[in-house]
Amino acid sequence: CRVAVLVSGSGTNLQALIDAAGERAEFSICAVVSNRPGAYGLVRAAEAGIPASVVDHRDYLNRESFDSALMAEIDRHNPDLVVLAGFMRILTPEFVRHYSGRLLNIHPSLLPKYQGLHTHQRALEAGDSDHGATVHFVTEELDGGPAIVQALVPVQAEDSAELLAKRVQVQEHKIYPLAVTWFAQGRLRMVEDRSELDGELL
Ligand code: GRF
Repeated sequence: CRVAVLVSGSGTNLQALIDAAGERAEFSICAVVSNRPGAYGLVRAAEAGIPASVVDHRDYLNRESFDSALMAEIDRHNPDLVVLAGFMRILTPEFVRHYSGRLLNIHPSLLPKYQGLHTHQRALEAGDSDHGATVHFVTEELDGGPAIVQALVPVQAEDSAELLAKRVQVQEHKIYPLAVTWFAQGRLRMVEDRSELDGELL
């Protein structure tokens, strides 16, 4: 299974996927694409010998033209799956439809709670006892696509948003490779806005 990974920043989830691809060989990362030239994820890709490129959103007049350039760059590598790993751009419906059923994202909350930004702070402010992360298929609704796997992280009394974020990230690095492996094994599908693993609805 050929996987393209989109990043905007540090790329720790990309690193977890690179490591898992090396260990299990059920999938390989065929391309890393960033919208930011300075993203550290590009360095991680280069170190792993993965083709890495930049499609800088600032070079495009609008979201539509950026997304079509991004699609062209991704499709050059013929991926079976496209994985958003800290990719901080909202994607157009055209983009999402183009990769429907083969586009994954990881979000740092127990969705449907806390769609959008500042999830750790919001969980603390709400006094939640549990927080976590969710891998989901991407649909046109932002952070609203069907969930695949969640990791639960208990909130501790002295937690700050930074401490909580660190513990959530440790879990992200486990569940993202897991979901990609399921997809690569042909066990995971999106069926009419629901996720199915081994033929069972999730
Ligand atoms: C992660 O917290 C992920 O949940 C969110 O963006 C962050 C990316 O971190 N979507 P990294 O670039 O993988 O380190």
